[in-house]
Amino acid sequence: MGNVFVFDHPLIQHKLTYIRDKNTGTKEFRELVDEVAMLMAFEITRDLPVKEVNVETPVTTAPSKVLAGKKLGLVPILRAGLGMVDGVRKLIPAAKVGHVGLYRDPKTFKPVEYYVKLPNDIEEREIIVIDPMLATGGSANDAITAIKKRGAKNIRLMCLIAAPEGVEVVKEAHPDVDIYLAAMDDRLDDHGYIIPGLGDAGDRLFGTK
Ligand code: PRP
Ligand code: URA
Repeated sequence: MGNVFVFDHPLIQHKLTYIRDKNTGTKEFRELVDEVAMLMAFEITRDLPVKEVNVETPVTTAPSKVLAGKKLGLVPILRAGLGMVDGVRKLIPAAKVGHVGLYRDPKTFKPVEYYVKLPNDIEEREIIVIDPMLATGGSANDAITAIKKRGAKNIRLMCLIAAPEGVEVVKEAHPDVDIYLAAMDDRLDDHGYIIPGLGDAGDRLFGTK
């Protein structure tokens, strides 16, 4: 079974509070999501392999370390995942970015795929799928399936807020995928919204509503 990590770093939790706040406007919401994404990327990359190198300082040779192992790929789920990409790229500028476009049918809550474009060397990369909300889990589930179908083997999922229902769905369907969260919330409401959540992430990021 995949592991679930909830980051309790004070900065992540502080910023998440203002992301949740209904009085936070679009500009500030976008900035906070960007900042939390960067902080989460810092935590998620803690286990990346490194190798020993020597570097010439102005004074002498220093035994040092650089990243080794697989290159990274980021795959935001459109639309709302886009709001977290730049924050992650600030720390991992060499990561290639693919996109999976899905929207949730408002009646059935089932995801509808409308776009997939991934780096062509995806099977050689460690992939981080990015979406602020993991609600019923349908979107993340289908996105991961679409990415695996195209060859990806090492996948992590990064979300701001999850409902327990969504986490179970992804764990069940993709036991190889670790899930990284800023918060695990209580439940879903009758409209498939996360309670307490933050409302509609896409609308709040892009000012549509
Ligand atoms: C939101 C969110 C996730 C999905 C989560 O996207 O960004 O992708 O809902 O719900 P689920 O876990 O029940 O599938 P939405 O469908 O609202 O599309 P948008 O990002 O284009 O606004
Ligand atoms: N999508 C959102 O944007 N918010 C939710 O609470 C659930 C799905």
